[in-house]
Amino acid sequence: MSITINESHLEFHLYNDQISYIFRVLEKSHQLEHLYYGKRIHHRDSFAHLIEREIRPSCNMFEGDHTSSMEHIKQEYPSFGSTDFRFPAHVIMREDGSHITNFVYQDYRVIKGKKSIDHLPATYVEQETEADTLEIDLFDKVLQCQLTLTYTIYQDRNVISRHARFVNIGKEDYFLDQAMSMSLDLPDDQFEMIHLQGAWAREGHLEKKRLSKGIQSIYSNRGASSHVFNPFLALKRFQTDEQKGEVYGFSLVYSGNFLAQVEVDTYNVSRVTMGINPFQFKWKLAAGESFQTPECIMVYSDHGLNGMSQTFHKLYRDRLARGYWRDKTRPILINNWEATYFDFNEDKVLQIAKTAKDLGIELFVLDDGWFGKRDDDSSSLGDWFEYEEKLPNGIEGLAEKVEELDMRFGLWFEPEMVCKDTRLFEEHPDWIIATPNRRVSHGRNQFVLDFSRCEVVDHLFNLMDQIISKSKISYIKWDMNRHITEAFSQALPTDQQGEVYHRYILGVYDLYERLIEKYPEILFESCAGGGARFDPGMLYYAPQTWTSDDTDAVERLKIQYGTSMIYPLSSIGSHVSDIPNHQVGRMTPIDTRAAVAYFGTFGYELDITKLSDQEKGQVREQVAFFKENRKLIRNGEFHRLLSPFDDNITAWMVVSEDKTEALVGYYKVLAKPNEPYQRIKLTGLDPNQLYQVNNEKSYYGDELMNIGIILAGNYIDRASDYWSREHPGDYQARLFMLKAL
Ligand code: DGJ
Repeated sequence: MSITINESHLEFHLYNDQISYIFRVLEKSHQLEHLYYGKRIHHRDSFAHLIEREIRPSCNMFEGDHTSSMEHIKQEYPSFGSTDFRFPAHVIMREDGSHITNFVYQDYRVIKGKKSIDHLPATYVEQETEADTLEIDLFDKVLQCQLTLTYTIYQDRNVISRHARFVNIGKEDYFLDQAMSMSLDLPDDQFEMIHLQGAWAREGHLEKKRLSKGIQSIYSNRGASSHVFNPFLALKRFQTDEQKGEVYGFSLVYSGNFLAQVEVDTYNVSRVTMGINPFQFKWKLAAGESFQTPECIMVYSDHGLNGMSQTFHKLYRDRLARGYWRDKTRPILINNWEATYFDFNEDKVLQIAKTAKDLGIELFVLDDGWFGKRDDDSSSLGDWFEYEEKLPNGIEGLAEKVEELDMRFGLWFEPEMVCKDTRLFEEHPDWIIATPNRRVSHGRNQFVLDFSRCEVVDHLFNLMDQIISKSKISYIKWDMNRHITEAFSQALPTDQQGEVYHRYILGVYDLYERLIEKYPEILFESCAGGGARFDPGMLYYAPQTWTSDDTDAVERLKIQYGTSMIYPLSSIGSHVSDIPNHQVGRMTPIDTRAAVAYFGTFGYELDITKLSDQEKGQVREQVAFFKENRKLIRNGEFHRLLSPFDDNITAWMVVSEDKTEALVGYYKVLAKPNEPYQRIKLTGLDPNQLYQVNNEKSYYGDELMNIGIILAGNYIDRASDYWSREHPGDYQARLFMLKAL
């Protein structure tokens, strides 16, 4: 890995064995010109031969210069209004109302390793040798503004991370109307854009569209990354599939409003931009102050979508998630939400915990409804003290009883919200996000606390701390069930109201950080009505996320398949729940539900006391199976094989790092009569290794990868078997465990 700088031409080449990223300083205007990003190429003393500048009539140029139309130059962090008409990376407004900037190259620094980013989540290194960082300083003389663009290239990963920082070193205040994390001009438009789209209970659905002229974008303006889009997009070549071909992936390490877009200009240059959504954003950069953008992770892979995803998985699992739980397998949990909803008391939940313990489950999680007078979703959020009628011994007493079962205890909170019937609201009615003299909309009868205010975050920390400090709590589910409306903070002056959304999410990060610091061994699971905040920002604090409120095994195939584009199995919260399923009413076999949930953190969410003895036996086996294989599932390399978005059949697999074992999940939604032959071709195995499949037949890795697992039976001379065979029915799953012989 290296960052090589040609001092005379001021060219910068960041490269490792897999990727190259090259840009330079323009001779006359001293702005940055992008030259190349993609598969590793040779280093050269000069990359001047890569400059691509056609003579274009009808363009606008800098005075005294005939080659400086920025519209025709591929750039690193462009501005608008001074010869470039495309979407810019930044917009700054001065007090006189002008918007023109001119950031020119000033200096560079190469730093071993990677620095952390103040108050924001970011990927990190443990050894300096894992990455090199290049900081480029640009300067706008009129604004007296220093802009530092930071690029980190990882040694053994096909990853470059980028972010930007503005420092006002002058005397004049001005406003950042837009400060994106990254802008990249790719030289052509022969791509399909992939992203995740959804809604409550159907998150993570893959969408694919061919790039066309103009802007195509995904975004959030809801105060959270949201169910609707994920802060991720990828550009893949038309022929790229899961296993092969070129793809660029972009992922924003941020949990608030974002924008991710591609603008294809009239010369087919594709400008990718990602960062905080500029819509309703305006940050006052007062004299002497600085502004830091979130980090954007860029992955280039020529090994298909799986290649891109595996890079994201390893980076996010090992160098974004942190702390005590980062490298540990997670406990198998049971959550009481779909078992009881609000209707529980200590006896009832202890019964669930006892039965679960008997079946091998390790952690009991008490969900919503344990505080204030909360019997439904109309009250009590903010009154973070126990509901005595339900829990006469409090959380402390319940946790103790669960611990006595030799189980761990976990608890649900929704710290960012308040209901009007609470002490918190009575004492601090001005602590909610609300615009004066306007209606204040509720979501699920709750209002959003103004986390842009330190005193609100302090107060919530104290309330949570009172519960956590006195009880034995090993896990916290942090929920967030509505979006921000009527955004306005009563604590901010008029000219800083454009800061509310970003300051809000900084407040959320701050509360997480303080809790983690005080309680480093608590396992946090983030949640926002399911997956409305399943984003890399959250993974920095909570290494796992409740992926969706939809627990139906069939729906989960799509949700988990899509989510796995970016996020590792160690982060994908997945539970076996009841039938008829509470979201869609579907009846799926319990083993199918488990076979889907295994490919995630794995747990249960149903009234386990009501299962038949036979079902309990199945749960016991499932729990034992997961315990035996959870290291493989957590640490292995995940490969998607067949997509639920294409067909009736889904398949995926996880292979251990040393390729000595693998687990394959195969799911058929609807049974079909007299079907064509089927084989599942595997990937990622050692071609020369002999593997035994489900303790039966053995195959070489090359057979399994080139021929596949043959799914049809072999009925030669067994006519009676043929006629008497059982039909498996709909919603079938099969698991194949491969062990090297
Ligand atoms: C939404 C979550 O996604 C559910 O799992 C559950 O915790 C409910 N909120 C509780 O209100």
